[in-house]
Amino acid sequence: MRELLSKQNLDYMDRAREVAEKFVRPRAAELDRTGEYGWDILEALKKYELTGIWIPKEYGGQGAGVLDLCLVVEQLSRACGGVGVAYAVNALGSFPIMLNATEEQKVKYLPSIASGEKLIAFALSEKASGSDAGSLRATAIKDGGSYVINGDKKWNTNGGEATVYSVYALTDPSRGMRGISGFIVERGTPGFKLGKREDTMGIRTVSVHELHFENCRVAPSQLLGGKEGDGFKNAMMTLDRARPGVAAQAVGLAQGALEWALRYTSERKQFGQTVMSHQAIQFMLADMATQVEAARQLVYTAARVIDSGAKNVNKIAAMAKVFATDTAMKVTTDAVQLFGGYGFCRDYPIEKYMRDAKITQIYEGTNQVQRLVIGRSLTRELKEYTGHLDCIV
Ligand code: CAA
Repeated sequence: MRELLSKQNLDYMDRAREVAEKFVRPRAAELDRTGEYGWDILEALKKYELTGIWIPKEYGGQGAGVLDLCLVVEQLSRACGGVGVAYAVNALGSFPIMLNATEEQKVKYLPSIASGEKLIAFALSEKASGSDAGSLRATAIKDGGSYVINGDKKWNTNGGEATVYSVYALTDPSRGMRGISGFIVERGTPGFKLGKREDTMGIRTVSVHELHFENCRVAPSQLLGGKEGDGFKNAMMTLDRARPGVAAQAVGLAQGALEWALRYTSERKQFGQTVMSHQAIQFMLADMATQVEAARQLVYTAARVIDSGAKNVNKIAAMAKVFATDTAMKVTTDAVQLFGGYGFCRDYPIEKYMRDAKITQIYEGTNQVQRLVIGRSLTRELKEYTGHLDCIV
């Protein structure tokens, strides 16, 4: 639906598509097999001026919106879901700075992320605190003139490649989630150590790490926004803005798998005709294409709502994430089915789409958490509009 996109949107989309076709697709299987990061792809993204596009112009970025970000992620993910998230996770890591950092912090960190010189990751989850993010245990206790961070972080996507991390820890453990603060921590800070790399099912090109903090001293200048206690809200607002990016990754994966399925079923013959000409298969393809388009439009809508500056974006962002990622799982699984036995083999590109899709239902908030967010919003809205409900009897 190019007609519905602006000139700027199309420009980002087309440049990302070119990078995906020229640089990502030829490397996708190898990066999946070896688990290597596509540093050459990062160079291509720099050359095509696609790194950090979401960062405001005054901090070295392009001031592009979440919709532009989603269009780039979608195109990259059509070729490789791992490369898609390797790109998108820098938005997740830098949104906390864009939302709440002091001017000094923005000037110090955003330009190098915008240029792609530095990569950033988001460190919220811990071993015992995943969906219940407010129960995190890492501490950052003030001692003399600095904060001393202790604790471990889990599921840090981009952990091995990043050199800057948005980290959440308790500055006042007695206040629970209201005692959480955000910090910007640089690789190389004494006491900060990269932990084990996870052996993941999909998105294998980007590393997922544990992070360890042992008496890691950071200056007060690293306290996000220079204010204690705002960390949980900052993390939630960040996730609201980043979830459409995961949803766009899912749309890209689903679209990519659909395209492979169309190609395969139009070439393979069984019972004397192409597999695609069997009505049962056409119906499957029709459903897959319809689901992908529906997901795409919901993701674009969520992104547009965020770009409009609307305050309450958590419901629409969660809806986009749930719908697009469940769609990606369904469509990529159906695509494997359409390849038959070949779909189950690594000789063909299709099984990777299904493996890459699975994590989209889990990270940046499981789809159960997204439904919780949507349900809570509905309950709030119901209370607000109770007066209008007399007519529903
Ligand atoms: N925006 C602003 N504020 C928000 C908010 C939002 N979206 N959501 C909650 N808050 C505020 C509330 O208003 C409340 O503030 P007050 O006390 O001042 O009223 C406070 O935060 C607590 O809110 P809740 O009571 O709703 O909190 P909760 O404990 O019930 O949890 C939750 C809510 C939605 C379940 C939340 O914990 C959540 O989103 N969990 C999932 C976490 C997640 O997505 N983790 C993924 C991390 S990233 C990752 O996956 C790794 C990676 O590298 C990609």
